[in-house]
Amino acid sequence: MVVLGDCNMYEEAKKHFNYFIKNNFDLNNDKIIHKIEHTYHVVDNVKYICDDMHLNKEDKDIAMIIALLHDIGRFQQVCEINSFREDINDYDHATLGVKCLFETNEIRNFIKTNRYDNIIKKAILHHSEYILDETGMTEKEKLHAKIIRDADKIDSFRTKATEDIYIMANITEKDIEDSKISDKVYNDFMNEKTIFSKDRKTGVDIWISYIAFIFGLEFNSSLKLVKKNNYVNKLFDRYVYKNDFNKIKLLKQKANSYLESRVK
Ligand SMILES: [Fe+2]
Repeated sequence: MVVLGDCNMYEEAKKHFNYFIKNNFDLNNDKIIHKIEHTYHVVDNVKYICDDMHLNKEDKDIAMIIALLHDIGRFQQVCEINSFREDINDYDHATLGVKCLFETNEIRNFIKTNRYDNIIKKAILHHSEYILDETGMTEKEKLHAKIIRDADKIDSFRTKATEDIYIMANITEKDIEDSKISDKVYNDFMNEKTIFSKDRKTGVDIWISYIAFIFGLEFNSSLKLVKKNNYVNKLFDRYVYKNDFNKIKLLKQKANSYLESRVK
């Protein structure tokens, strides 16, 4: 019998996740290992957010299971095209993940009850949308969709602060350090807005747009976690901006004051 909020619910899902990955994907492939690491960092972020928001055990377990499964479509994508690019073959890893879990009822191996299926399905389906489409979602579905979106973005700060920028974004350190920031990108950031892809014209625009994800975070708890990890300063300090040094300094101040205002 499944007990709601049972402490084993996440542990059971995790056990099957490890088995599923080991049996279906190549653990010698760096991209697969990278995705496993990402998955568990997102689980940790979700755990922090749920604890900080004092969510109950049941919601915390569901949120952690969603984190475990949110990028399941990415594993399939790597297996088929060995890339994370979504412009190849119209890949949409969120839709692929939902198909992989629900078309063949694989989801039942991760979680015995179907009680949370709609919450899990919608959270995975909407996790990578630029703006969350809340149409037809219940309050509970919205909550979980927002938690996974925040936790996923926060892990992108970790990777952007440490990993090879060319592999992640197809731009070089020189592209970022030698370019000038576009007015639209600068103004949107100063107005605490996230940046649209089409507005990014230069290397530094692309870089700044990643930091601007802080303005898209839903929960103060998420911003607390960003602050705790010092991601804003780590990202700004990763490069030496040869042009627009003063403008970037102002953006850094803006980002830090925004963080302070949200975590108070
Ligand atoms: Fe992810």
